[in-house]
This record gives sequence, structure tokens and C-alpha cells, in this order.
Amino acid sequence: AGPEVVSATGKPTGAPPTARSQSGAYLTTSQGLRLKDTDHSLKAGRRGPTLLEDHHLREKITHFDHERIPERVVHARGSGAHGVFRGYGTAASVCRAGLFAADVETPVFVRFSTVLGSRGSADTVRDTRGFAVKFYTDEGTFDLVGNNMPVFFIQDGIKFPDVVHAAKPHPDREIPQAQSAHDTFWDFVSLHTEAQHHTMWNMSDRGIQASFRTMEGFGVHTFRLVDWEGATTLVKFHWKPKAGVHSLVWEEAQLAAGGDPDFHRRDLADAIEAGFLPQWELGIQTFPDEEDETFEGIDLLDPTKLVPEELAPVQPIGLMTLTANPSNFFAETEQVAFHGGNLVPGVEVTNDPLLQARLFSYVDTQLTRLGGPNFNQIPVNRPHAPVNDMLRDGFHQHAVHTGVAPYRPNSLDGGCPFTAGEADGAFVQVPAQVAEGQKVRAAARSFDDHFSQARLFYRSMSPVEQDHIKAAYSFELAKCYELAVRQRQLQCLANIDGDLCGAVAQALGMVAPAPTIELVDAEASRALSQVGTPFPVE
Ligand code: HEM
Repeated sequence: AGPEVVSATGKPTGAPPTARSQSGAYLTTSQGLRLKDTDHSLKAGRRGPTLLEDHHLREKITHFDHERIPERVVHARGSGAHGVFRGYGTAASVCRAGLFAADVETPVFVRFSTVLGSRGSADTVRDTRGFAVKFYTDEGTFDLVGNNMPVFFIQDGIKFPDVVHAAKPHPDREIPQAQSAHDTFWDFVSLHTEAQHHTMWNMSDRGIQASFRTMEGFGVHTFRLVDWEGATTLVKFHWKPKAGVHSLVWEEAQLAAGGDPDFHRRDLADAIEAGFLPQWELGIQTFPDEEDETFEGIDLLDPTKLVPEELAPVQPIGLMTLTANPSNFFAETEQVAFHGGNLVPGVEVTNDPLLQARLFSYVDTQLTRLGGPNFNQIPVNRPHAPVNDMLRDGFHQHAVHTGVAPYRPNSLDGGCPFTAGEADGAFVQVPAQVAEGQKVRAAARSFDDHFSQARLFYRSMSPVEQDHIKAAYSFELAKCYELAVRQRQLQCLANIDGDLCGAVAQALGMVAPAPTIELVDAEASRALSQVGTPFPVE
């Protein structure tokens, strides 16, 4: 039997289960009519034309014809798992959210994904990976929708369609299916140089992770936590795998993509089934919530920047264990709908312009992908907290609502207080200061530094890792048809690190350009990153 049908108030409607079982003695139509034969259509004579009257044939074919839903516009290929999150209580001093309290256990559903490939693409391609977690808390659902890299390509969500158009396969030939090695990608990142830091992570071993189980996760944006007194702290979220961080080498990644395109999906499912339950610690970097929203000179609203852990150590606040594979891929992994606006009291968003656009985009796309406004009633998306909303009707409405007055206040239904305070667990935004001034289509000046953190990242790598990065740029740029694009990307590399630029230029048979900005000496930069001094900004 499937899950009970409940109304939006959480009460059973008295309707029968919606789940369709494949067990039972009889095969039936969708109406429960028992069938004798599902292999032959109803015909006028054994050789005769098929009759329109055959409702079973039409129902079977019609339903099949509509089995596919659109794949996600990005992150189409993914793998999911159920699990549990246990709070350590260490975040209680900065956050009132119940899920972080000591020993509170919260069920979760996680979806890992690649970004660019289609649903059927290979797992081990060079790409960023999604790391999305849905916490079904008693206070409402909290979604932490992150990636396996701590920074993003763009600083403002208005460019998201552009970066995705550039990174997805070329519109004419639909190649490449899933890798970054093509002209439009390099055209974009060399013109929108804010993308250089994220691109450097992609070209590093982090772009070819060995397994989902050994991948870090990052909330990327800065969030605002609120304690019981209303005091606020800015934070960045980190997931650290208990099994350590591991990558493939490029040859392994290529072989796995050909030999077993389901390499990561299989690894995750097999590990869980065998009882090797993957675990991650959730941690936070904390920063004082000051008016300029910067920390050690780093703009916390710029999603192309990270804060080095030497400057702000990651403090563990809980442990996630994945415990069970989905029983139906479509129902759970495909239909799960994450949204960064799903917050709980104590966790708030900041004005990061990338995050702000995301808050609009996810629900909007899910309205199409999941066929209308009621996708939160799909079992994997149902909150575990009691729901009492005033949302009504719409396509695929499964609740049979009771009452006559879906508006507040009303004098007819009664029973539900219109307002609840923080003491009742209501989400009440802290009165954070918003900027004063004129409306502008412009970014903060601090967003102008596009190269210093790419340089910091490169120079913090070991020589072997640096060699992998050189090889990755050389391989990928060699796939570019347009020499001007290669040249422009070489210019970006020259502005990041001369040694890197020289090696890639040599591999491409091109001349390394001179930097157009002043570079910081390699040794000095490495030392700075190790002692935790703020890195230089051009
Ligand atoms: C999907 C992460 C930026 C739009 C996803 C998913 C992840 C993710 C993990 C997969 C969700 C799943 O498994 O179902 C991120 C991160 C970002 C980012 C970490 C930046 C830090 C953006 C931006 C936009 C956007 C700026 C748009 C303005 C989408 C859309 C989907 C998606 C439309 C598909 C959602 C669905 O169909 O359910 N993103 N994303 N993302 N993202 Fe993002």
C-alpha cells in the first residue's frame, strides 16, 4: 500500500492510497478493473483492424506516451538517497533552528548531480557537481542547495541563462554532451572574467571527483543565522565527507565515462546497499554581521570568492548519514524539488545577487517541470511539519480541502490564529538593514577583482595538482576551434599565474601573453595563504 492521502491540513481525506502496487493476484486497469489479457489488442477478427473500443489498449499506450517529463534545465543527471542529519548543538549559540540542536535527528533527502549533461550523460565528466539536501524538519522544510565547489561562475543571477547557454552543448551540433571543452564555454569565461576562479576549480582535480561519497559540499553563498535573542551571524556552509576528498585522474575519468557511464550512481547505491553508509559533517564558517558584509577584505556577498579556512575555520555543527536508496528513481530522485527559499526560523538569506535570483528561479522552473503548482504534494516533496496553508486547487491537486474560508482572518472556519510570533515557531525575518541610495544596474566595486582568488587557489596546490591543472587547461583549450578564444583565455591565465600560462601556451603551440595586471610573487602568495593573512587584491 502506498502513502495515505492527506489534505493540506495533514488529515487523512479518507480516500484510498494513491500508490499503485505491482503486487497482487490480478493485473487491473487504472480503474481497478481486472484484466484477463494485456498482450493482445481487441481486433475485428484475428487479423483484423484494431477496435477503437479497446480502452485498455488506449489507456496503456496513452499513459506510456506521457511518461516523460522535462529534464531539469541544469543538473539534469543526478542520484539521490535518503538519510538522517543529527545536530551536535554547537550551532545553538548562533542559530535558533531546531535541526541544529544537540541530538535532534532530522530525515533528509539528498540529490547529487552533474550540471551540464543531459539525464543520460556520463557521471565522470569534468564538471561542477550539485549537492542538494532537503531537511524535513519539524519547523518546515529547509533546503540547502549547494555544489561541490565553494564559488560560482557569475556574480549576478541575471547572467545565469547566459552562462548556461554558453556551457551547454552548442545549439547547432549539440556537442559536447557534458564537458566544458568547447568554444562557447571558453568564450564566455574569458569575456566574463569573474568566471575564472570557478573555472580553475573545474580544471583542477575537483572537477573529476572519484565518488559522490568523497565529495565536499558548499552552500556557496553567505547566509545569515539568527539566535533566540535576534542576534545575527553571517555564515558559509560546508559539507566535509568522513571518507575524505578523493578525485580521479583524467585518464581514469575518461575510461570510466566510456566503460561505466553510471560510475558514480552505481558507487553510491552499492555502498548504501552494502551498509557502507556515506557520512558528511556539516560545518559553518562564521563572520560578524557588520554593515559592510565583508570579512578580512573579502566581500561576503560575492559568490565568486571564498574565505580561506585559515582565516575562518570550519566549525562542525552536525553529521549527515545516508541510510537508504530510493525505492523508485522517478518518484523520488527525479521529482524532488529543491528551493533555496525553503528556510526555517534561524536561517535567512543575504543580498548576494546570485542567491536572490535563485530564489525566483527554482519554483518557476519546477512549475513547468513538475506540471503545475502542487508539486509540494508529491511524496518526496511533502513537508514533515504540519501544513495548514491557503493554497487551493490547480493541476494535480491531491488534497481534499475542508472548510469554506481559505483566507485570514475569517469568521466562518475559525480555529486557526491568523498570526503567530517567534515564540510559536513562526518565521519572522530579522530587521536587517537594506542599502540606501539610488536604483542602479551595477555591482559593488569589490566585485571587480576577478583573478586574485584563482591565483590563490592555483598557488595553494601541490606540484602534482598544478600539473593536472595545466594538463586540463591544455586538453580543454585544444578542443577550441577559435584561436581568438584560446588567446583570450591565455590572457586570463597570464593574469592569474605566469607559470601556468606559459605551460598551457606551450602545449597549445602559442605564445604566452604578458599579464595586463600586476601579479603577486608566487612564494609570497603561498606564504600568505598558509599563515592566514588576507590575500592580495589587485
Ligand atoms: C538546479 C545548485 C545557481 C537555477 C540546481 C541543483 C543544484 C543547484 C544542486 C540541482 C537540484 C536538484 O538536484 O534537483 C546551484 C548553485 C548555484 C546555482 C550552488 C550557485 C551558487 C543557480 C542560479 C540559477 C539556478 C543563479 C538561476 C538564476 C537552477 C535551476 C535548476 C537548478 C533552474 C533546476 C531545478 C529543477 O528543475 O528542479 N542548482 N545553482 N541555479 N538551478 Fe541552480
